[in-house]
Amino acid sequence: MITDMAAPALVASIGDRTVPVYLGDGVLDAVGGLLVGRGEGDGVLVVVDDGIVGAADRVAASCVAAGLRVTVERVPAGEASKSLAEIERLSRAAARAGIRRRDAVVAVGGGVVGDLAGFLAASYQRGVRLVQVPTTLLAMVDSSLGGKTGVDLPEGKNYVGAIYQPVAVVMDPSVLSTLSARELSCGFAEVVKYGLLTGGDLMEIVAGWPELPGPADGLADLIRRCAGVKLAVVEEDEMDLGRRAILNLGHTVGHGIEAAAGYDLYHHGEAISLGLLAALRISEHALGLDPVWRDRTLATLARHGLPTALDGSVSIDEVIDIMGRDKKADGRALNMVLLRAPGDVLTHQDPDPGVVRAAVEELTA
Ligand SMILES: NC(=O)c1ccc[n+]([C@@H]2O[C@H](COP(=O)([O-])OP(=O)(O)OC[C@H]3O[C@@H](n4cnc5c(N)ncnc54)[C@H](O)[C@@H]3O)[C@@H](O)[C@H]2O)c1
Ligand SMILES: [Zn+2]
Repeated sequence: MITDMAAPALVASIGDRTVPVYLGDGVLDAVGGLLVGRGEGDGVLVVVDDGIVGAADRVAASCVAAGLRVTVERVPAGEASKSLAEIERLSRAAARAGIRRRDAVVAVGGGVVGDLAGFLAASYQRGVRLVQVPTTLLAMVDSSLGGKTGVDLPEGKNYVGAIYQPVAVVMDPSVLSTLSARELSCGFAEVVKYGLLTGGDLMEIVAGWPELPGPADGLADLIRRCAGVKLAVVEEDEMDLGRRAILNLGHTVGHGIEAAAGYDLYHHGEAISLGLLAALRISEHALGLDPVWRDRTLATLARHGLPTALDGSVSIDEVIDIMGRDKKADGRALNMVLLRAPGDVLTHQDPDPGVVRAAVEELTA
């Protein structure tokens, strides 16, 4: 067991903050050491969901070993826990546990726990220190990075939240050994997205990736590279006013599919798999992307168990409608992220509606 953290694998400069990302075997056992500091409090609230085994116990044990007072709060696994009711319950649990301004919240879990506990940390006593400990592939390459936190309302996903950077992100890829094949694939859809965004050898590594999770060394390196792509974009545009939009490649159509299917049939990464294919087809028409990239991407997605054909129960009209509604709600043109080539990405305003519809319709073929 290690108790001192080795050097971070990545260090992001976001606004006036520095966010180190620790990555490797055993890093979970060193979380406590990160939270001990002169003038800092000794209270720690660990938030975890009830589908996660082991990781939170290791984090809590490391906090105890560092002389901290630890309270562990479990929430039910699943998106329904991203609610204001859960924020209230956790805030009151934190108050009863004596968590104060200089104490800390540690989020151990996937994107659900990260978003929920992240927003708790941002709002409880106007902000306490936050450590993100992502335990899903999606959380390691995406949701734990960049500071977006929040909860859902019945009226919409992620409707209440804050951008709040953690003091550290701590990821141990070995925890992925207990993650279901379906959740691993979902995270891999975002990995495929990063490959397309960067092109070059990351794209080749993604295209050649063996059965998930794949070799331990290679996986840690893949996660580091994807996390690096995301953080580099966030460094440029923390508040999501411009460049950060490129991280939405595949997400315009993907969100439409997710919502039209009632957030039930498809998990997020599965909808993104379909959204990526649509975005690549639209890119061919709008920007002359070589069709070989869509073919190759489809083969990669299919090989990792991700959907490449839209279920017949999902209404195309509704997918298109939802995309249009999002656009109106924003009061802007429909901005889609498109590629001229892998690594050559831009946001494209108002792509031809006929082309967009055809790209979605084609998914059902
Ligand atoms: N903040 C952001 O920038 C951002 C980005 C993308 C997605 N998100 C959010 O992330 C959420 C989705 O996150 P997710 O895909 O990680 O799902 P999730 O958090 O629901 O986790 C998926 C499932 O895996 C289980 N699990 C987690 N780690 C495990 C492990 N190591 N072993 C076994 N089981 C484990 C969980 O109990 C859960 O049942 C959504 O709410 C989405 O809005 C946020
Ligand atoms: Zn996504």
